[in-house]
Amino acid sequence: MKCIIRPLTLEDEPFLWEMLYQALYVPAGHPAWPREIVQIPEIAHYVNGWGDQGDCGFLASNPVTGESIGAVWLRLLISNNKGYGHIDDNTPELSIAVLPEYRGQGIGTQLLTHLFAASEQSSISLSVSANNPAVRLYRRFGFEVVKSNQESLTMRRC
Ligand SMILES: CC(C)(COP(=O)(O)OP(=O)(O)OC[C@H]1O[C@@H](n2cnc3c(N)ncnc32)[C@H](O)[C@@H]1OP(=O)(O)O)[C@@H](O)C(=O)NCCC(=O)NCCS
Repeated sequence: MKCIIRPLTLEDEPFLWEMLYQALYVPAGHPAWPREIVQIPEIAHYVNGWGDQGDCGFLASNPVTGESIGAVWLRLLISNNKGYGHIDDNTPELSIAVLPEYRGQGIGTQLLTHLFAASEQSSISLSVSANNPAVRLYRRFGFEVVKSNQESLTMRRC
């Protein structure tokens, strides 16, 4: 499905909270996470106060209905506020999600293509569960594993 993609604005913060929830990996057979989980500080800081210097990203919408259906965004989380995928204080972390009913239709690919065409970042990192199928998508976009433990991978694209 070819979606409409535009840059994120300050007004998109409510949708980014939904995307943050949707970005959380739910292992097969595991119940859905409670909604309040996004308020945990280690998770909330990916969206809290959206619009800080350096924040950027894109929103995908359904071309027929106009519904917002996915987003990708970058945020620099450093010093005493490091994210799960922190590598160094110059490398922003990527977050991405697509609403469940739209997954597997090329929307994540379109969002990442837009982001990398627009971004001037020399390095971008992310953290992903080791068994999340999204790892394949990230590898196709040039991300490589730079750290791993039993549960998660830190990947970087230079
Ligand atoms: C990851 C995600 C943003 C990709 O967007 P998408 O529109 O589904 O992706 P595309 O259709 O462009 O590309 C397909 C690839 O996405 C990934 N993917 C597809 N469905 C997925 C799902 N339900 N969960 C995780 N990754 C998925 C796979 O890598 C797939 O590649 P494959 O066909 O080789 O298996 C989207 O599936 C999603 O929101 N998943 C749940 C949240 C998540 O895992 N976010 C990443 C956290 S690090």
